[in-house]
Parts: sequence; structure tokens; C-alpha cells
Amino acid sequence: MPLNPARRKFFSYLAASPFALHAQEFFPQKPQEAVNVFDLESAARKKLPPAHFGYLTTGVEDDATLRANRDAFSRYQLRPRRLIDVSKVSTEVELFGTRFTSPVLLSPTGSNKAFHEDGELAVARAAASRNTGQILSTSTTVSLEQVNEAYGAPVWYQLYATSSWAITEKLVKRAEAAGCKILVLTVDVPAGRKTETEVRFKRLDTRTCGACHGEGPIGMAAYFRRKPMFDGIDTAGISLFAPALTWESVRRLKQFTSMKLVLKGIVTREDAQLAREHGVDGIIVSNHGGRAEESGRASLECLPEVVAGAGLGMTILMDGGIRRGGDAFKAIALGARAVCIGRPYLWGLGAFGQPGVETAIDLIRTELDLVMKQCGTRTLGEIKPSHVQRSIL
Ligand SMILES: Cc1cc2nc3c(=O)[nH]c(=O)nc-3n(C[C@H](O)[C@H](O)[C@H](O)COP(=O)(O)O)c2cc1C
Repeated sequence: MPLNPARRKFFSYLAASPFALHAQEFFPQKPQEAVNVFDLESAARKKLPPAHFGYLTTGVEDDATLRANRDAFSRYQLRPRRLIDVSKVSTEVELFGTRFTSPVLLSPTGSNKAFHEDGELAVARAAASRNTGQILSTSTTVSLEQVNEAYGAPVWYQLYATSSWAITEKLVKRAEAAGCKILVLTVDVPAGRKTETEVRFKRLDTRTCGACHGEGPIGMAAYFRRKPMFDGIDTAGISLFAPALTWESVRRLKQFTSMKLVLKGIVTREDAQLAREHGVDGIIVSNHGGRAEESGRASLECLPEVVAGAGLGMTILMDGGIRRGGDAFKAIALGARAVCIGRPYLWGLGAFGQPGVETAIDLIRTELDLVMKQCGTRTLGEIKPSHVQRSIL
């Protein structure tokens, strides 16, 4: 039915209004057109096969923890200080003896070739070009050695311990031989998870998964076959997850390797205290981007108690829901020395490859630089708890 002129006028007014512009989804054709990282998400969703975008975007069960990660940032407000000379601001951070241009590192994420043919190589080149830290997943689809070469230095290595200690040792030895200095042990997925959004996206995909993943259900055997970290390792009957992992395993690992040990996935004061007692060097406060258990609790909300439990001297990072420089600022104000992003750089990768990852890094770092100026903080060290307040609403 044709619109009557009055309604047509109303809708064209609405479409041109700033409100509609704000609400419209924008699909950048080039990385430079992305105004924020959400634009990269739109572009990635358009480009990627539904099954792969589902793997990228999913949380677990109702995705409540995934949403909580984001929502938490809006509960903290900024308390900008005035009349401070901010003509020079530095976002640099030193972590375990290395200086990075930005305190926003790249979280470990698996199977990057599902998002772009260059996979982890594109990520490494982007991270290197921006002097940004990269944590490489055990589930990498490019070998660790090739990634280190592309990065120009050893990356941080993220370990999934697997259900076999013998394999754990092989992975750690390989990371050491490749020159890695930081070992990030992920402790938040002991025995699988229920990724319902991923399942639903897969059903939208008309392609045959078996063409790439091999026939039959995509199980552990198919998984190991496509992951270079397991080349030459007998993985029969082995699971990537390590249900028997305990604090005793952390002690063993600490004795086994000379690398700095960082635990990823600690979310309570009690476990932060135990980490300290076990000589752990750092913690990444994380719920795996809402992809582990459906706790409903945001990473940001967990951060203060982990900082308190870990005490002075431990390096605390945080990830989960960071999309803006302002989010990084709030996490640093609450005690994180640095933060990490997962999905935002994968959106960039899926949308545009290496330049997309660079854009994600640039957008968040530039926003952080601006927020620091707006709040009167010239270095990360000047960002204090008094620069944020928790909303009373
Ligand atoms: C597609 C994808 C794959 C991931 N793979 C891993 C992994 O292999 N190892 C790991 O420790 N964490 C993994 N994570 C979790 C991230 O390291 C990180 O904790 C999370 O993405 C941070 O939240 P954000 O995506 O909201 O930034 C993955 C996350 C995503 C989105």
C-alpha cells in the first residue's frame, strides 16, 4: 500500500535525523570508514560464513555473561579532573620487561583462519606494526614459529593444558624453544561448554562443513588434525580441555618452565590469593568473553576483588567486553595494568584482514588517548580509582 504524503514526509524526516543515523547499522567498505569497532563487527558479519561468525560471536547458554561483560562498563562513570596540562599523553605500558605502545593487548583466540585466509599471520603483522602485545592460542591455525617470525619477536603463548600432562610438557617445551617468555595458562574451561548461539548460526549455513573440516561430526580428532601445535603429537583419546587440572598442576608447571606464568580466567579473590601463594606472575581476569560458564558476572565486576586478593606486585590484566578506549580506562582505574580484546580484532580480521586488525587496535588506542586527556591523566600510572565511580542507580 503506498504511503500517504504525510507519512512519507515523516519517514524521510526520521531517516535524515541524527537519531536515525545513530540507530542505523553501518557497513564500512574499507577499514578507514569504520568509526568504531562496532562498524567492523557489521562488516565481518556480512562477510563471514554464518557458522564462522557464530563461532566468533557466541557466548554460552543465554549469552547472559557475554552481555554482562558489556553492561558493566556503563555502570562505571568517569570523574574527569580539570586544569591539568594534557598536551602530552602516553598510552605506553611495560609488561614483564617489554614496552608496548598501548595497554590493549590481543587476547588469544583460536582458529583465526576461520575469519581470514591469513589467520594468525595477519594478526601478528598487525600487532607488530602497532607495537601491540599478542597472545597466541594453543588453537592457532598457523604455527607458533611462523607467527613469531611475522611478529618479529616471541609472542605470549596461551596454553590449553589438554587432558594429558605429557602433551602439556611438549607444548610448553615447544613454546620455550620458540623463545616465548610468557606462558598464559587458561583455567576457565575445565570440561567443555554449551555454545547455543554458535549452534543456531551453524544451522543458517548452507555450506558443507565436511569439505574443510573432514567428514563426520566436528570432534576432537578433526580439531587436532587442523592445529599445528599438535603436529607430530599422538592425540588419540585426548581432550583439549583438562578436567583434572589443579593448583598442584600450577605448581608443577611453575617448576617445569622458566617462562613467566600468567593464569587466564581467575575471577575471585580466593583464587587470586592462591595464585599468589603458588608464585604465579600474573593474572588475566577473564570469563573467556562469556564463553566459559554462564556465571552472569562481568569481568569488570570481578576485577577489584582479584586485584585485592593478588596483592601488590602481581601483574593484573583483564579482558571481556572492552570495545572502547573508555572501557580500557575504567579497567585500568579499577586496578588492571593492561587489558585485552578478543572479538574486536577478530571483527577487523574477518572484515579486512591485517588492515582491519590494525584499525581495531588504532580505534581503541586513539579513544583511550582522548579519554586520558579528557580526564587529566597523562600516563597510565596517573589513572586512579578516583577517576571512576560506580553508578548508584
Ligand atoms: C572466537 C574466539 C576464540 C577464542 N579462543 C580462545 C582460546 O583459544 N584460548 C583462550 O584462552 N581464550 C579464547 N577466547 C577468549 C579470549 O581470549 C578472550 O578472553 C575474550 O575474547 C575476551 O572478550 P571479548 O571478546 O569480549 O573481548 C576466544 C574468544 C573468541 C571470541
